[in-house]
Amino acid sequence: MLQGKKILLCVTGGIAVYKAAALTSKLTQGGARVKVIMSASAQQFVTPLTFQALSRHDVYTDTFDEKHPQVIAHIDLADWADLILVAPATANMIGKLANGIADDMISTTLLAAAAPVWIAPAMNVHMYEHPAVKRNMARLDEFGYRFIEPNEGFLACGYVGKGRLEEPETLVHLIEDFFSAAKEQPLKNKNVVITAGPTREAIDPVRFLTNHSSGKMGYALAEAARDMGANVSLISGPVSLKEPAGVEIQRIQSAEEMYQAVMERFSDADIVIKAAAVADYRPKTVHGDKLKKQEGDLVLEMERTKDILKILGQKKTHQLLIGFAAETDRMEEYAKGKLISKNADMIVANNVKTKGAGFGGETNIITIYKRDGSAKECQLMTKKEAAQEILREAVAELAPGEKECK
Ligand code: PMT
Repeated sequence: MLQGKKILLCVTGGIAVYKAAALTSKLTQGGARVKVIMSASAQQFVTPLTFQALSRHDVYTDTFDEKHPQVIAHIDLADWADLILVAPATANMIGKLANGIADDMISTTLLAAAAPVWIAPAMNVHMYEHPAVKRNMARLDEFGYRFIEPNEGFLACGYVGKGRLEEPETLVHLIEDFFSAAKEQPLKNKNVVITAGPTREAIDPVRFLTNHSSGKMGYALAEAARDMGANVSLISGPVSLKEPAGVEIQRIQSAEEMYQAVMERFSDADIVIKAAAVADYRPKTVHGDKLKKQEGDLVLEMERTKDILKILGQKKTHQLLIGFAAETDRMEEYAKGKLISKNADMIVANNVKTKGAGFGGETNIITIYKRDGSAKECQLMTKKEAAQEILREAVAELAPGEKECK
């Protein structure tokens, strides 16, 4: 996937510069052509010679050090790149880019760039959480820059928290995925709405009813749809996952809030995928104050929530509607029943009692049931692979003429 790809790596000053060196080496070994720009502070940590040796190209450090008289270096580099990655990205560089400041080789080149730009921040946890940095990142997000969120862990400054540059191996995988998806963007210009995670139904201000959904399946779908070129809206229940870059996220708590969020986007949607584990019932009364314990049992009266998938099935015009079925027995029978009763185009069934399937884990075992009566049984695979499989089936449904037998 990396063969011949032109990657411009912009290295700014932080201890994680050593990871950028490892990244350069891995990308080059993978066949990519890597050119490096270093900020002045990056050179305090590692010399340009390291990156020159690893990338086998001149390293750019100064806007006015024009190496080739026939071109202007920062314009030439900006035009050359298929992908620009700023890693590690300091708070200072993020601030400059967010405000259109062009006072060094990196910020000047990025202002001239039309290629996709990824930012991989690395800094102290408090710096990362500072409102100024958050605001600058939000602005870059609006510009269409994609963020590779830092990891949590021990930081060089002695703190433990979020701020470690993502590992070079992971960055390489993300870059490979990007080029592999860019080859073919079957969902380009399609609006895809995905629900993920659990809902919480309040009992009183301190208690709620929920379920075991981690959101991993829905988030994997959101990332896979984004990589296939879709405009993705992710409606997420409360989960503790990294927000996928390049995806619109709306956070909700209850089934009713999820219903409202989905309906707001439904008329413009081309595909709706309901991976969320939505509560079927909620307490009939939500107590304004904390319920005090009393002698004897407590009986909660419950009422039905809206069946969002069913309502979408009744209202759909052109949308491809994909539901899930989380079952513990008679999976085929129930999944096929949901296909009809909810007027869905596809139901992705998983037996949540089976090891490796369902809630929480990194893997799933899915069977995809379709309106034409066909069923595609998949083996144990990662949720990412399952998401790609589901979306390939969705693409085939959108363009039945191009349907392939796999
Ligand atoms: O989040 P993970 O930890 O990765 O776990 C993944 C998963 C198990 C949650 C996921 O793979 C899954 O099966 N999601 C659907 C869970 C569920 O609620 O299934 P259900 O069979 O109860 O509902 C059927 C369909 O109706 C689902 O698409 C659901 O989103 C939808 N529904 C349900 C109730 C409701 N009130 N409104 C709905 O739209």
